[in-house]
Amino acid sequence: MAIIQMNTTSNSKNMTTTAGKVITCKAAVAWGPGQPLAIEEIQVDIPQKMEVRIKILFTSICHTDLGAWQGKNEAQRVYPRIFGHEASGVVESVGEGVEDMKAGDHVVPIFNGECGDCVFCKSKTSNLCKKFRVDPFKSVMANDGRTRFWTKQGEPIYHFLNTSTFSEYTVIDSACVVKVDHDAPLKTMTLLSCGVSTGLGAAWNTADVQPGSSVAVFGLGAVGLAVVEGARSRGASRIIGVDINSEKLSRGEAMGVTDVINPLELNKPVHEEIRGISEGGVDFSFECAGNLDVLREAFLSSHEGWGLTVLLGIHQTPKTLPLHPMELFDGRRIIGSVFGDFKGKSQLPEFAKQCMHGTVKLNDFITHELPFSEINQAFQLLMDGKSLRCILHL
Ligand code: APR
Ligand code: ZN
Ligand code: ZN
Repeated sequence: MAIIQMNTTSNSKNMTTTAGKVITCKAAVAWGPGQPLAIEEIQVDIPQKMEVRIKILFTSICHTDLGAWQGKNEAQRVYPRIFGHEASGVVESVGEGVEDMKAGDHVVPIFNGECGDCVFCKSKTSNLCKKFRVDPFKSVMANDGRTRFWTKQGEPIYHFLNTSTFSEYTVIDSACVVKVDHDAPLKTMTLLSCGVSTGLGAAWNTADVQPGSSVAVFGLGAVGLAVVEGARSRGASRIIGVDINSEKLSRGEAMGVTDVINPLELNKPVHEEIRGISEGGVDFSFECAGNLDVLREAFLSSHEGWGLTVLLGIHQTPKTLPLHPMELFDGRRIIGSVFGDFKGKSQLPEFAKQCMHGTVKLNDFITHELPFSEINQAFQLLMDGKSLRCILHL
């Protein structure tokens, strides 16, 4: 099979010449937990049936990539691997049977796919998909159980979260790729791939925040601030932001948080403070830090009788919920939200349009931009709590 060399400046014209051929390009390969990602040449296979090969133009790092890269959960340690799930790009070629996309289309990968055919996809009440739901253990393509990436020595390189976007080219099941308008600004569309859709959708779809309601958001990273943006755009009258990083609290205030709490500066549990300032508790609380103690505080901060806590944070080493069953008889509810309860393929194009029309302020989430070659620095920025999203340019 012909193998051709690509460089990062290739344009749409030569993309079509690559169809049906293996592509050699650069990717950031993870070789072990916490080891700096290695930018190296890899080979990317042609897309198989119902798969799409994408030229990634922008990608960013979400906390889930950070946790997986650190290898906190032993069961997820599969190497070599290409991480990354927040991105945007252009279709280079499509596999047999793909009818809703063609070379040149602008697309956003989604880690929580929508096949359109399974019992979940056919249900109006869930955005799970039997075949393409989030599965941190999945590291090969659904079609044939093989990878579409190899090292130059011909060793397989494994996939991550249905997407693997830390690569100039990637192959993704078409169920996990959403086509957006040609005039949609791809750089900001990157944020819809995970963080912003996850947080904003949790406020809009999962919680269905109502005008005049009170909200507490625990953890003001990109996901938490997207919840803030969702609550603000729905007309919540009070948005309490909780974070241990004071810079995040200031950023939150600039984006619509009305009250800030730094647990490290408080001499009582956060839930007591929140219940004190919100007439017995908030209508909605959101856990966006990925910490079970924080989840308990969020739960107890919600109002008895009707308070709803939405869990968004990912717990790297799963434990059971920090609740006594009797506490659920106080009328508080708790629910998890994946990808903001958006059905990706069918609902994201409309959400992208709303973003283009300014319903959501996407630019505020981009705090840094770097060339792809500096991906390790972008990881450091997120680890140090300095960035919301650092957009990497490929
Ligand atoms: N209390 C309050 N805030 C906390 C705490 C704590 N104990 N611990 C951490 N935080 C804050 C951090 O200071 C940071 O601002 O939580 C925020 C997390 O933000 P990011 O690291 O930017 O992560 P993000 O990409 O927003 O993801 C948040 O959602 O999708 C999941 O896996 C993801 O668990 C992660 C969460
Ligand atoms: Zn993510
Ligand atoms: Zn499905």
